[in-house]
Amino acid sequence: MVWDIIRYDETDSTNLRVKHLAGEQVCEGTVVVADCQTSGRGRRGRTWESPKGKNLYFSLLLRPELEPSKAPMLTLVMAVSAVSAVRKLTDMKAKIKWPNDLVLEKKKICGILTEMQVENEKIAHVIIGVGVNVNQEEFTEELKYSATSLYLESGRKFDRQLLLDEILNEFEKNYGTFLKYQNLGFIQETYNELLVNRDCEVKVLEPDVRYSAYALGINEKGELLVRREDGMIEAIFAGEVSVRGICGYV
Ligand code: BTN
Repeated sequence: MVWDIIRYDETDSTNLRVKHLAGEQVCEGTVVVADCQTSGRGRRGRTWESPKGKNLYFSLLLRPELEPSKAPMLTLVMAVSAVSAVRKLTDMKAKIKWPNDLVLEKKKICGILTEMQVENEKIAHVIIGVGVNVNQEEFTEELKYSATSLYLESGRKFDRQLLLDEILNEFEKNYGTFLKYQNLGFIQETYNELLVNRDCEVKVLEPDVRYSAYALGINEKGELLVRREDGMIEAIFAGEVSVRGICGYV
């Protein structure tokens, strides 16, 4: 894959920039990176704080030959790739909170937002947006108990370009393998070793019910297998469901 990197000092959201470019038929491998975002977007309609000159915000465009139902797995492929990159560059033991948050010391350092366009039941494109809290020195009162940065956890500042290069390298390898097998079997074990709440009790939050369960790990489809209190094993799908720790975010 040839990554074609387009840089902005400031933009609304790198996911939105890539969406516009996708409409202009640009190639798979286009990457938009910004020094700051004025409307950074998170999952479930949330905003993503994107201060200038501190963190890494980028989105990449893919045009995979894949059934649309399999596209959400790409988010987990990116999560594993980003963890590998962070570990290589910083030596810090980043982990994953299912499905796709990267965490350090039980606080979030990275979020991933995957968006897909389907036309005639086929994927027209997939956009994967990644925000990594790299050198941010402080967080708002609202966020500081659940978010942190590589700087805050290590006391060191990191080069955002090197981190971007490393994430793209890791992702390129994993993306190729994923397209070959079209499931997550090849990273399932790695993912489960990185899973921060594996073998822990979690709260499963579905749109209309919530219950406690024991997290076992993901299956080949990226669903989280949990054991309910009655012993039933359930596979939960990321779309509508989220998982929290018993006492907080992790
Ligand atoms: C989440 O809610 O955890 C996902 C956050 C994703 C943030 C990144 S920053 C780069 C890209 N552009 C956006 O507007 N969002 C994603």
